[in-house]
Amino acid sequence: MTPGRVARVTRREGFNAAHQLCDPALSEEENRRLYGKCVGRHGHNYVLEVTVEGPVEPSGYVIDLKRLSDVMCHEVVQHVDHHDLNTDVPWLDGVIPTAENLALAFWDRLDAALPGGILHTVRVGETDKNWAECTRPA
Ligand code: NI
Repeated sequence: MTPGRVARVTRREGFNAAHQLCDPALSEEENRRLYGKCVGRHGHNYVLEVTVEGPVEPSGYVIDLKRLSDVMCHEVVQHVDHHDLNTDVPWLDGVIPTAENLALAFWDRLDAALPGGILHTVRVGETDKNWAECTRPA
C-alpha cells in the first residue's frame, strides 16, 4: 500500500439527555428571543459520531472500533446518558448546552483519552435536522 496514506473511521453512539438553553446573564425575555422554545427544559435522543484519522496499522485498523466505542462511553456517554446536561455533569458546569458547545466539550475529553493526534471530528446530532461538529484547531 502507498506509504504515508491515512484512513478515517467513525463510530456512532447514542444517548438520551435533557437540556435547556438559557444564558443566566440574560433576562428571561432576552433568553426567549435568543433560544426560542429551547429555553424550556426538554430532551433529545442525541447521536455522537467520532471520527479518527491515522495510518492503517498492520492489524488493518486505524483503531479498533471497540476501543473507540469504549473511550466514547467512558469519557462521554456514561456521564450524560439519562442526565440533565444543565445540572448533572460537573465538566459541563457553566456551559450552555447547545450542540456546538457539547461537541467542543466532548472533543476535549476524547482528545485527551485517545492516542495522540488521531481525533479528527466530533459530531453531535440533536435531531435528524440539527448537527454540530468540531475538528482540530488549525
Ligand atoms: Ni434542545
